[in-house]
Amino acid sequence: MNALPLRSLLFVPGDSEKKLAKALGAGADALILDLEDSVAPANKAAARGAVAAFLRDRPAGRLPQLWVRINPLATPEGLADLAAVAGGAPAGIVIPKADGPDEVRRLGHYLDALEQRDGVAAGSVRILPVATETARAPFALGDYADAGLGRLLGLTWGAEDLSTALGAATNQDATGGWAFTYRLVRSLSLMAAKAAGVQAIDTLYVDFRDPDGLRAACIAARREGFTGRVAIHPDQVAVINDCFMPSAEDVAFAHRVVAAFAAAPGAGTVGLEGRMLDIPHLTQARQVLALNAAYAAAAEGASR
Ligand code: COA
Ligand code: MG
Repeated sequence: MNALPLRSLLFVPGDSEKKLAKALGAGADALILDLEDSVAPANKAAARGAVAAFLRDRPAGRLPQLWVRINPLATPEGLADLAAVAGGAPAGIVIPKADGPDEVRRLGHYLDALEQRDGVAAGSVRILPVATETARAPFALGDYADAGLGRLLGLTWGAEDLSTALGAATNQDATGGWAFTYRLVRSLSLMAAKAAGVQAIDTLYVDFRDPDGLRAACIAARREGFTGRVAIHPDQVAVINDCFMPSAEDVAFAHRVVAAFAAAPGAGTVGLEGRMLDIPHLTQARQVLALNAAYAAAAEGASR
């Protein structure tokens, strides 16, 4: 697993040369070069060629991780996509409409062969399934934990394809938030990722002209345990990057928690600012400080 989780993963339609070029400078931790739902059927073949070329011809230097979302393995395009892009040594493959860990394992076997064929380091291409997009998928979420999938980087979830699969008219409730079914699979995907020890990546925020709404949603997601979020527009990237790092407030609080326990050696529970804290709070505080230190070290490395 990477030392640092991916905060922002920016989708880029694979058939748009303009967006592909622009995306490199967007500041995202990762790009997801898309061959699936943002590409019309008539453009699929051209997009596959464009993405393969983009990977092959990428400039040297510090770049975002380059991921590719292929078409589902259940469609003829899926394998063709994979065969076309594997030689470009993508950081990973996003697999949409994944039914469960067996499908991720199958993709891993294909990658074993393609890495060998193309001279790409064995096991280097990671996998990120969109793990809630079919009616069957939510029932397999708990199985990722014991599946032993070395390539698995994280789990993400999606509401659009799931609502289509369910024959739903909408995935929203009367207040405009996610309807219960989608809140359910979102929480299950979060717990499934944690159970598997991988990154929990929240789904896209569809209104890309609403930075305040995005910010509030990202802060809430981070506080629930998500480590990053998909972006669909360059304007979303900075907000997401910012929100998925521990805030100054959280870091200061974590320091106070650690200090409170340090001041009471051997205590399993302490009081701080009128609240009871016990060992899980201390563990949480240490997690916040460790993540904060890792980001600081990475920023230090980048500026040298
Ligand atoms: N990646 C890279 N560049 C992008 C981009 C993206 N995802 N989205 C927009 N841009 C570029 C535009 O090309 C435009 O470039 P310009 O300034 O050189 O003209 C600039 O950013 C501003 O874009 P804007 O006019 O605000 O948006 P738009 O109307 O062109 O595009 C979308 C809106 C939703 C179509 C576009 O953001 C998009 O394609 N998003 C990704 C969709 C996707 O991949 N979906 C699959 C996952 S669900
Ligand atoms: Mg989709």
